[in-house]
Amino acid sequence: MIFYEKQIELTTERLVLRPLRLSDAKILADHLQDPRIGNNAWHLEEPFTEQHMAEFIEREKADMNWLFLAITTKNDDAIGVFDAFFYAENKVAEIGYWLGSKFWGKGYATEAAEGFINYVFNDMKLNKLEATVFPSNRASTHVLEKLGMVQEGYRKNHIFHSGEFFDIIEFGLLRSEYEQQHSIKKK
Ligand SMILES: CC(C)(COP(=O)(O)OP(=O)(O)OC[C@H]1O[C@@H](n2cnc3c(N)ncnc32)[C@H](O)[C@@H]1OP(=O)(O)O)[C@@H](O)C(=O)NCCC(=O)NCCS
Repeated sequence: MIFYEKQIELTTERLVLRPLRLSDAKILADHLQDPRIGNNAWHLEEPFTEQHMAEFIEREKADMNWLFLAITTKNDDAIGVFDAFFYAENKVAEIGYWLGSKFWGKGYATEAAEGFINYVFNDMKLNKLEATVFPSNRASTHVLEKLGMVQEGYRKNHIFHSGEFFDIIEFGLLRSEYEQQHSIKKK
């Protein structure tokens, strides 16, 4: 079931989230040379070359279960990627994100995710957002907490990545929790 717009563009105070373009392949591959990104965002496809990124961007256009958006500053350069996998029948989206390391620590991941969360609950009318994170990933855990997401579970040895098993923490945000947080914030 197709129930979202693949060509979506979301604007926040400092950022634009827009569909990936072939011309983003090089800059994204350059960002991904920092191993801290692939080590934490385990679902990223290797190798992190410009050609592989271009192939991925081309393939991704046809996948209606998975949305990938370039996170850009207002000058249109891709500083990272925001993605969402949709479990349409359950009205759930699982989110992921990464940024080039020179853009860390400026609140960009939180801002991008807030823009997407507003879209998911206000426009797509989904019921739930979820995200998973390695327990060692304090920055991402903090992003999820700042977004109002709630820890729902802890799964031991749940991911096999680069030859090792990793625990993960599962976070969720229900529509009702989002609405409650936003009405409280408005007061
Ligand atoms: C996770 C990631 C996207 C965060 O991006 P970001 O733009 O720096 O995030 P934000 O600035 O919005 O928020 C990060 C928060 O974590 C905090 N933080 C950063 N490193 C931390 C650490 N080691 N321990 C505790 N808190 C930490 C920051 O201070 C900030 O909190 P604050 O706003 O209260 O000061 C970025 O670090 C990244 O791309 N990491 C590699 C890929 C990855 O981990 N993706 C997520 C997979 S689940």
